[in-house]
Amino acid sequence: MALCVKVPKKKGEETRQKLVAEGIFDPSFVPLKNGEFVFFPVKKKPASVDFPVVRKELMTRKKRFHSLEDALRGELTPDELDGLVRSFDIVGDIAVLEVPDALRKKERAIAKAVMDVHRHVHVVAKKASPMSGEFRVRKLKIIAGEKRTETLYTEHGCKMKVDIAKVYFSPRLSFERQRIASQVKKGERILAMFAGVGPFPLVIAKRQPHVEIAAIELNPDAVRLMEENIRLNRLEGVIKPILGDVREVVPRQFRGWADRVLMPLPKDAHEFLSEAFIAARRGCMVHFYHFAPIGKSFTEARKLVRAAAKKARRKVEFISERVVRPYSPQTEQVVIDFKVLD
Ligand SMILES: C[S@@+](CC[C@H](N)C(=O)[O-])C[C@H]1O[C@@H](n2cnc3c(N)ncnc32)[C@H](O)[C@@H]1O
Repeated sequence: MALCVKVPKKKGEETRQKLVAEGIFDPSFVPLKNGEFVFFPVKKKPASVDFPVVRKELMTRKKRFHSLEDALRGELTPDELDGLVRSFDIVGDIAVLEVPDALRKKERAIAKAVMDVHRHVHVVAKKASPMSGEFRVRKLKIIAGEKRTETLYTEHGCKMKVDIAKVYFSPRLSFERQRIASQVKKGERILAMFAGVGPFPLVIAKRQPHVEIAAIELNPDAVRLMEENIRLNRLEGVIKPILGDVREVVPRQFRGWADRVLMPLPKDAHEFLSEAFIAARRGCMVHFYHFAPIGKSFTEARKLVRAAAKKARRKVEFISERVVRPYSPQTEQVVIDFKVLD
């Protein structure tokens, strides 16, 4: 039972402010509206207002935690807290965590803490294998919340349906998508290799719809979601989803077609540089993503581009380069933007 002041509703807000100013409003309980009255929880009898003070059953307010560590203090020992992997991705309302083996018995508590800190998270999944295969997906185990892996994610005003168990998706490339979208000009033809559920094409087309985008993807689940996402964002006719292998589709349909080529494959994108040169018309801009050891990443990426350009008998000009994100203590992902000159 909480100590409360019983206030007529029409005097509610004015009284609440007085109680807060007096420093006796009790935020650990939720005020209760009942008929013509509202019951404000107080720490002691107020001096600033003259309404009846009563005892009433009120709901306790959940404590607001600002960090995972904060929410887990008391649940985990200091050593366990040290072993916690603090960074994790949130895709829509699904959090995807890495739980070290030593903390397996505490995974429920960790998942609950994630939901306490991030109130919009309704599913917590644990990474149960590394990413693998051509589709770049991993096994997941749901450790708290609803039993589903599909969610709706919003980025730069685009809505995207994603199934994190069936397709690759990373919210960490959000800045890159916007960076590239900001360069696109009216009338461009864009070849989006490795398109996934369509995040690069969608963000570009939302910002500049007067373009043609061919989005090639090998994973049928990703293409199905990309088709839904195109409809969801009313970009039919702007983005053309194509189920297939870049190696087969590009030489067959897109020779000398593209003003811009996107190559966001996390690993081994250089193996597809010959297809990028096949698609590139004169002046085409290519965005080439590459994983490499920190310190050598740009040199290695430029070397791979030069070698592929030589093989394709094309001239290139390097326009810009940036680190996209650190990947592991030894490796990072970089992007090189280069122009095909002839
Ligand atoms: C890292 S994901 C990128 C997905 C998307 N661009 C994104 O940012 O979320 C790479 C994608 O390339 C697809 N892929 C792999 N090899 C491919 C190929 N040879 N042709 C077409 N797509 C391929 C995979 O299925 C996967 O969805």
